[in-house]
Amino acid sequence: MNDSKILLSGIQPSGQLHIGNYFGAMKQFVDLQNEYDSFIFIADFHALTTVQNPKELNENIINVAIDYLAVGLDPQKTTIFKQSDSPQVTELAWIFEAITTMPYLMRAHAFKDAEAKNKDINVGVFNYPLLMAADILIRDADVVPVGFDQKQHVEIARDVAEKFNRIYGETFKIPEPLILETVKTVPGTDGQKMSKSHKNTIPLFATNQEIKDAVMRIPTDSKGIEEPKNPEADNIFALHKFVTEGPEFGELRDKYEAGGIGYKESKEILIKNLIAFITPLRERRKILEEDTASVREILKEGGKKANERAEEKMREVRNKIGITIS
Ligand code: TRP
Repeated sequence: MNDSKILLSGIQPSGQLHIGNYFGAMKQFVDLQNEYDSFIFIADFHALTTVQNPKELNENIINVAIDYLAVGLDPQKTTIFKQSDSPQVTELAWIFEAITTMPYLMRAHAFKDAEAKNKDINVGVFNYPLLMAADILIRDADVVPVGFDQKQHVEIARDVAEKFNRIYGETFKIPEPLILETVKTVPGTDGQKMSKSHKNTIPLFATNQEIKDAVMRIPTDSKGIEEPKNPEADNIFALHKFVTEGPEFGELRDKYEAGGIGYKESKEILIKNLIAFITPLRERRKILEEDTASVREILKEGGKKANERAEEKMREVRNKIGITIS
């Protein structure tokens, strides 16, 4: 395991997950944990820029840990931890702030978007990419699996690593963003990207009734059963791509193209397959929910291991920048 490459990613503890989160990111973490020395953390410091209700934040942290364990993240293979258990990342972020220019950070998409919406954004939002760079670089991560929206942040981490190495000598590994080809944007029930803010989600741990309600809401055109349909232009078919497999998928495509299947039947098949996909996840989640003591224990142990490794790296950094007195 020791010569495996290091994989790291962070997730914001921000409430109920949907199947877009799963196919867009979580599934990769589960699939990749066998190949890499894997570190997945809950970005609670980052969440402070948006969640300022302590009870809500605390519950979200445990919930997201439960969610990830329920989808198959295995604590034997992946170190699962809370970002704030390695407060060294805030120390490193400060060091990066001192070598990064304001104009450079002002070019970040996330900052520009936030600023366009609200001029009163907090300093945390502005510095966000540097805390993220610290998360990544403190762990000598080789690969950072992220969605497209986070790609620029990984590029900023690379730039920061290069700049630090130029000033203080070779210290940080240059990380690669890992955006798997299989990771597609999952469309919501209205065809736009699935997102809580669009109110078009299918929750990852949905009840059967919630699944039915969500699928029934999917708008379609008014073609009759026998009319040929373009599968690529249909919101129901777009979701079949994620949960309908094997010969059933091919047959469905053929029927769309030749005519012979109505949208109602297509929705019923989608409901059946979503239920088959979600039920075991929901059941695993329920078991974990009833035993949060062991979830807390997993976070504590992961936090301890992550902290020790962060401290070791920081000793090197403190020496390099000239603040260690021996
Ligand atoms: N910004 C990421 C998100 O919102 C979360 C995150 C924080 C992260 N630190 C990270 C992801 C380090 C990868 C690596 O999804």
